[in-house]
Amino acid sequence: MTLDFALQPTATPTADADRDAKLANPGFGRVFTDHMAVIRYDEAQGWHGATVMARSNFTLDPAAAVLHYAQEIFEGLKAYKRDDGGVNLFRPDANARRFQSSAQQMAMMPLPEALFIEAVEQIVRLDRAWVPGGDGSLYLRPFMLASEVFLGVKPSAEYIFAVIASPVGSYFKGGPAPVTIWLSENYTRASLGGTGAAKCGGNYAASLRAQAEATAHGCDQVVFLDAVERRYVEELGGMNIFFVFEDGSLLTPPLSGTILPGITRDSVITLARDAGMVVHEAPYAIEQWRADAASGRLKEAFACGTAAVISPIGTVRSAAGEFSINGGAAGPVAMGLRKTLVDIQYGRAPDPHGWVRKVI
Ligand code: PLP
Ligand code: COI
Repeated sequence: MTLDFALQPTATPTADADRDAKLANPGFGRVFTDHMAVIRYDEAQGWHGATVMARSNFTLDPAAAVLHYAQEIFEGLKAYKRDDGGVNLFRPDANARRFQSSAQQMAMMPLPEALFIEAVEQIVRLDRAWVPGGDGSLYLRPFMLASEVFLGVKPSAEYIFAVIASPVGSYFKGGPAPVTIWLSENYTRASLGGTGAAKCGGNYAASLRAQAEATAHGCDQVVFLDAVERRYVEELGGMNIFFVFEDGSLLTPPLSGTILPGITRDSVITLARDAGMVVHEAPYAIEQWRADAASGRLKEAFACGTAAVISPIGTVRSAAGEFSINGGAAGPVAMGLRKTLVDIQYGRAPDPHGWVRKVI
């Protein structure tokens, strides 16, 4: 399906000097571009009203379903500036498909893949001046919310889909330096039959208490265990996790329905196998992690995601104490995979899997 986007560019684009000042040190998720894309859905018209417009507030009725029952999903992908000045997207089709899967899991109307990609590309083209150079990128945040005005608990009959964009640097303050993570023993993130595999806002709301506990203990992120046995490592609040062993093999928890099927996770598995590494998708228990870190069988652990790219995990902290991996230092496998991935994303290396989409 395609729709023609009505174009209502902003009347007052950000002045070049202001934009450059913001791009100089964007941090993560606090600076936004001038435009947004919006598409609406209702039962009578289907998907309609596709518009690219100046970034502005939504008007929502106080009884809009999303404000009460949290029927909301989102995505995260990045646009990367190439050395020739053009701009790449990385696997936007995979984000579009995961968005459809999240919609199904949250009983929302799935957005056709072509509309998702077109809306993202419209924003990248219009706000191309906001794509940072160097190792920055433009983080794109497509999202969809239930806008029907009705207080009964049922799937909404109306939705608003939108894309906003935010120039970003590193997600973690320390860049790719190893992070310290907090082992959540009091709280879990998702259970079988729940929404753990959907990228819905509610999962993140539910993770905030654990994340606050992590922050209070001086940690960058929280790592969750499974909700049944409270033993098996699942993922971080906003990233998947990998382990690297002394025999050179990698292990990542399986997609059991309780973790997000990360696109970076999938890319890392593919790139590692391309490089001849053995990758297992298998459960890994926390007591095994402690033992393997102590014995040296575990060489590295790293987190991965669109925002975090690949971030080595240096230390794991819990109420019972802490342990380090690789002496708390970044390891060669994580840093090597990071470089391989980032070089493809920025168009500096061949793209054997056809992951890169040149928008400009
Ligand atoms: N797990 C969670 C809970 C996330 O929020 C994210 C980020 O999107 C990921 C994993 C990594 O997914 P991706 O690599 O698609 O960004
Ligand atoms: C992403 O990596 O895109 C996410 O959504 C993670 C979030 C912690 C920013």
